[in-house]
Amino acid sequence: MPGRIPDSFIEELLARTDIVEIIDRRVPLKRAGNEFQALCPFHNEKSPSFTVSPAKQFYHCFGCGAHGSAIGFLMQYEGLEFRDAVEDLAQSAGMQIPEEAAGAAPRPKKGLLEIMERAAGFYQQELKTHPPAIDYLKQRGLSGEVCRDFGVGYAPASWDALHKQLGTDAESTALMKRGGLLSQGDSSAYDKFRDRIMFPIHDRRGRVIAFGGRAIADDGPKYLNSPETELFHKGRELYGLFLARKRAGKLNELLVVEGYMDVVALAQFGINNAVATLGTATTPEQAGILMRATDTVVYCFDGDEAGRKAAWKALQATLPQLRDGKQARFLFLPEGEDPDSLVRARGADHFRELLAAAQPLSDVFFERMTLNVDMESIDGRARMVRDAAPLLERLPEGVFREMMHERLQELARHRLHVAAPVHRPPRETQAAAGSAQRTPMRLALALLVQNPGLAGQAEDLDDLDDATIKGADLLRHLVEICDGRPNLSTAQVLEKLRDHEAHAHLVKLALWNLPGETEKVSREFLDALAGIRLQKVEAELAGLPRIVDQDPGQRERFRALQAEKTRLRDSLRGRNN
Ligand code: UTP
Ligand code: MN
Repeated sequence: MPGRIPDSFIEELLARTDIVEIIDRRVPLKRAGNEFQALCPFHNEKSPSFTVSPAKQFYHCFGCGAHGSAIGFLMQYEGLEFRDAVEDLAQSAGMQIPEEAAGAAPRPKKGLLEIMERAAGFYQQELKTHPPAIDYLKQRGLSGEVCRDFGVGYAPASWDALHKQLGTDAESTALMKRGGLLSQGDSSAYDKFRDRIMFPIHDRRGRVIAFGGRAIADDGPKYLNSPETELFHKGRELYGLFLARKRAGKLNELLVVEGYMDVVALAQFGINNAVATLGTATTPEQAGILMRATDTVVYCFDGDEAGRKAAWKALQATLPQLRDGKQARFLFLPEGEDPDSLVRARGADHFRELLAAAQPLSDVFFERMTLNVDMESIDGRARMVRDAAPLLERLPEGVFREMMHERLQELARHRLHVAAPVHRPPRETQAAAGSAQRTPMRLALALLVQNPGLAGQAEDLDDLDDATIKGADLLRHLVEICDGRPNLSTAQVLEKLRDHEAHAHLVKLALWNLPGETEKVSREFLDALAGIRLQKVEAELAGLPRIVDQDPGQRERFRALQAEKTRLRDSLRGRNN
């Protein structure tokens, strides 16, 4: 435990800090009388209920109840621990945290952090002079630029290169041991990482606290990670989070993958919001960090047995974090693929489509709960309820929890169709199905081609085209064909498009199993269109510079897009209630 920070220091720090400035840097504020206002960054809303009082140096949202000081804001907004938030503010205020002498004074971490930083520097330097390591990275398809951004380095095949570089004196050696950089042999200590590609692991403030090393040669474990140290508790860290923040700015969505390589490869393809758990199941601490850092988490797992298990663990860890406005989704990858291999083979757009079609947590939950029970029998349904109810108790109070309970009750009453297939199809068909994930665009096309009468309900689509959203041209074309002719059959529509390049695609969509009832169909169609617009808005948002770098025009656009996004989300949510 770090030493307690004296109350007097906190007081002084807050006196020297202006909360308006701290918040405005992250959430642009507008003056309103004696206070400042903004759309609340902690929940979705249409009109601003988030207020900051310069007099009180306090923020408060009368929509969701969030409130606090500048420290509280940093903790909530940046997902920082108390001490880190204080350190951040202290740094901006030019102050230094004094350590209270009382009790078991912690060993200062300064030297330890320095030695880790120096180790990272050494590894990066070594990479430059070891062509085989560079070749390995090249062969993995990584650019020099992305390697530099992530601080990727190389630990030479030597027992003492790092040790010699950082100092063999007692003090340096002790620090290196504390940092997990040396292993202890019978008589002497030796470099832990040898002949490995080195990925520095940063804490949420960007300081190097550990390493992951990937073997280049075929001997030893593929990955070697730093041991648990004073700085590094792997269940509480996420690889890439600091860089995701830095590269992606405000994180609307975080993607959780399994490996270092996945994070780096995705970044190389412009997907900058991926983080990795460090070779462990997602812990409750990690779920908490994720959900403080963003509103939407997409967990990305293998589609195999192990991946399903990992997903279930992550789901359980996430339940307590799902306050209203927060959501988690799951993407199961085709067997034998990981995000790294997939983004290389199919490109970033394809990967984004998969992300957009990831399964909501609620589906995964009920799929799992009904997996091994006979839902046709009363006994089976009773057992399912018995298993599910205590898990749902872990959800924080709110609309989502209510909805989950309602769905559970519905399932208990009758055998309802649960979304995804229960058995795993063989590899081939699964891959094929994977390539036809239910993106909003595909769903809109499928609904329309199966129900041409829906065309009348499509609003103006002139603002959509293939350049912004793939498939938009086809959708517009299809609406044109069907509009005003509600009696066209699916076959007739397909016939008209026989020579169209997308004909085969549409035939497949025409065969999709969709709901039959008119009311549901039209609702789904409107949802799909809203989903498409949401993708478009999100794509444009992603293209804008980070808030701090925006010019007034871009900021205006940013706000408009945010508002539009909130509206679309709310309308989607409203209809799904
Ligand atoms: P994977 O085996 O899926 O490796 O391990 P990967 O990420 O695809 O790596 P490449 O593509 O083969 O280089 C996923 C994660 O599990 C942990 C690491 O954190 C790794 O990134 N792991 C794996 C270990 O800690 N030790 C191992 O021996 C293997
Ligand atoms: Mn891999």
